[in-house]
Amino acid sequence: MTLKSLLFVPGDSEKKLAKAESTGADALLLDLEDAVSQDRLPVARGLVLEYLKSHNRQHQQVWVRINPLNTPLALPDLVAVMAGQPDGIVLPKPLNASDVLQLDHFLSALEQREGIKVGHTRILPVATEVAGALFSLNTYAGCSARLAGLTWGAEDLATSVGASTNKKDNGEFDDTFLLARSLCLLAAAHAGVQAIDTLSVDFRNPESLQADVQRARRQGFSGKLAIHPDQVPIINQGFKPSAQEIQHAQRIVDAFAQAQGAGAVQLDGKMIDKPHLTHALRMLATNTGH
Ligand code: COA
Ligand code: MG
Repeated sequence: MTLKSLLFVPGDSEKKLAKAESTGADALLLDLEDAVSQDRLPVARGLVLEYLKSHNRQHQQVWVRINPLNTPLALPDLVAVMAGQPDGIVLPKPLNASDVLQLDHFLSALEQREGIKVGHTRILPVATEVAGALFSLNTYAGCSARLAGLTWGAEDLATSVGASTNKKDNGEFDDTFLLARSLCLLAAAHAGVQAIDTLSVDFRNPESLQADVQRARRQGFSGKLAIHPDQVPIINQGFKPSAQEIQHAQRIVDAFAQAQGAGAVQLDGKMIDKPHLTHALRMLATNTGH
């Protein structure tokens, strides 16, 4: 299932947890990492477990972002929440696919303990949060059947390289961060999983979010992280192909159907061949949901 909108919810906030279900996000990412202070972590683990146990997942997946595997917090996070059978685990700051594999093994053991079908819990790495991770993005292909997608982070990467900002003066991401973004997209395609765009921090600016989503979708991303409920409908809507795009895709498919086996045809004076047909068929196939 393609996840278009994935909303972070601080795991220690009863107010935000209470609001989360009504946001229409395809997945909630209950956070135990950066949005929660160390002294609130025990409270957050309890609230997240309670949330998982009391929420039906038919219309919305519930995931948990644990702390990085190289901290002593990650295993206690997992041990605390797995009884709630999360749909998946968001893995922050991995260096490469070995981290996914290690998490995969931890999950298998805990699923066994909790009586959950082994392999049920998916994994979404935030694959570009440390500088070294950019050199290993090719390793994710085939690393684990649990891999649901790849997403990228610009905030922690800035800290990792010592950048005081990740933006240029005009507000666009600077070179290092665009590189991380493109490599994440390529790595996801290479691994055959969803590419999920990073969050837009400017959550009171719907126009710029809309532009971010349109650009991300044109580039090949099929979902986006969110941090505020207001961002969710814009993301859900933005990742749906427009009626015009659907119509155009259908015309491409029809043109090939009428071409009686020709590999290349013309439509509106432009050459179209197999990659265009593949793209059109994919668009028609994913035109479901919201
Ligand atoms: N999930 C669920 N509910 C949220 C929410 C979220 N991420 N962010 C805000 N809300 C709720 C608020 O509690 C408020 O609820 P109410 O209508 O019952 O009062 C409503 O949505 C409107 O919120 P608003 O007042 O506009 O925002 P805020 O100032 O309370 O919060 C943030 C702003 C950025 C602190 C907040 O959106 C947030 O915590 N985002 C997630 C941060 C996070 O998880 N970061 C880690 C990933 S990078
Ligand atoms: Mg972070």
